Amino acid sequence: MQVVFDYLKRNHARFVAELCAFLRFPSISAQPQHKKDMLACAEWLANHCRKIGLTARLCATNGHPIVLAKTPARSRKPHFMVYGHYDVQPPEPLDLWKSPPFMPRIRGRSIFARGATDNKGQLLAHLKAVEAYLKTGTPLPCDLTFVFEGEEEVGSANLARFLKAHRRELRCDAVVVSDTGMPDKDHPALTYALRGVISFEITVRGPSRDLHSGIFGGAVDNPAMALCQLLAKLRERNGRVAIPGFYDGVAPLSAYERKQFKRLPITDRELQKMLGVKKLFGERGFTPFEQRSARPTFEINGLTSGYQGEGGKTIVPAWARAKITCRLVPSQRPARIRKIFCDHLRKICPPTVHLEIADGHGTEAYLVSPTSPQAEAALRALRKAFNREPVLLREGGSIPIVNDFKEVLGADTLLLGLGLPEDNAHSPNEKFDLDCFEKGQRMSALLWQELVC
Ligand code: BES
Ligand code: MN
Repeated sequence: MQVVFDYLKRNHARFVAELCAFLRFPSISAQPQHKKDMLACAEWLANHCRKIGLTARLCATNGHPIVLAKTPARSRKPHFMVYGHYDVQPPEPLDLWKSPPFMPRIRGRSIFARGATDNKGQLLAHLKAVEAYLKTGTPLPCDLTFVFEGEEEVGSANLARFLKAHRRELRCDAVVVSDTGMPDKDHPALTYALRGVISFEITVRGPSRDLHSGIFGGAVDNPAMALCQLLAKLRERNGRVAIPGFYDGVAPLSAYERKQFKRLPITDRELQKMLGVKKLFGERGFTPFEQRSARPTFEINGLTSGYQGEGGKTIVPAWARAKITCRLVPSQRPARIRKIFCDHLRKICPPTVHLEIADGHGTEAYLVSPTSPQAEAALRALRKAFNREPVLLREGGSIPIVNDFKEVLGADTLLLGLGLPEDNAHSPNEKFDLDCFEKGQRMSALLWQELVC
């Protein structure tokens, strides 16, 4: 193993340059105008896999392509899959970036760019580890398949289909994913639960066109106001979701879990300062960590109506729209939540406006044993790579495909995140920490040894 570690150390500067090249692609899956950039990014990634000694191919889908790469000389050794995504979230608002989102900048031990932590830097750590094995002629104790998709940030619908169509080829003993976080640099983490998510777009329509608010205002309902009033009814003051049936079947947190969470280093005060909020907020009876990882939520992600340009415009807008997501916890089935949400909204919508609800993606929460032999192996790899005692986490984000790994391939996913809370995932000035990059490479190299013994 020492030659593997030496190789990683010797080549670190080149790895950072390669990460920069990867980060230059504006691979924004949600925006149709970036379709070509998505393909170019996937091609770069497949070529990179070939360069480090893997076999790789691009698999076309109805959406963005999947990159499939494998270690050569496959035998009947244990077989593990590494999953990651090369698509990124939209970088807007652009004016808040200190350097342009697709021109990576290194400052101190951080590399700034959209996708740095989520997920290009994290997935590259695994490729660098396997490169070290292959280029030093160190035998791998297992076969590895790498699956990198371009649609994680839009719900992974095409990868789910791909898994079903290739279930034999992709059969494996476990999936390894670094697309989650750790509480800070001194606490490497194994995440054993993720929240699910469902999304909607709600449009409220009033008059057939924008109207003069002086001539007609007062005699027609204002769609922006109607939408605000509707949305306001869906949540209580403290954050509890006010949709009847929303909490049905939601299990309370176990004493064991609450104790694990208490071990986490971040204080409420630090969290409040880091996020720049005046005061923290949330459902009573739960700590902020519990609120954002183990409790379901209702969020408005975007709200649009009326005149958005400079200055004012005296109108009653013709329509108003909200982009909504709910985070879900185990036992909240996306289809049922979708139904009770739509039924309730239709029931409380006033007769003065038309209501349209467009469905988006939906994904169940994920929960896996943190005490399985595979989890124990992962904890050993984390402990050795970071030289620190790892923590067990539940996290609030979602990775849609992990449920399909279980259902279609029968494989559990080990979530070994390298992201930090201050990495600004989905925010302006996203970054990835180069220490996490290096330790992540070592963790990956060690993991294959630990998983087979
Ligand atoms: N890496 C995140 C998920 C994540 C972040 C899990 C932090 C745990 C901790 C992933 O790329 C992501 O953002 N997923 C989306 C999925 C959605 C668009 C279907 C999410 O959670 O919003
Ligand atoms: Mn993301």
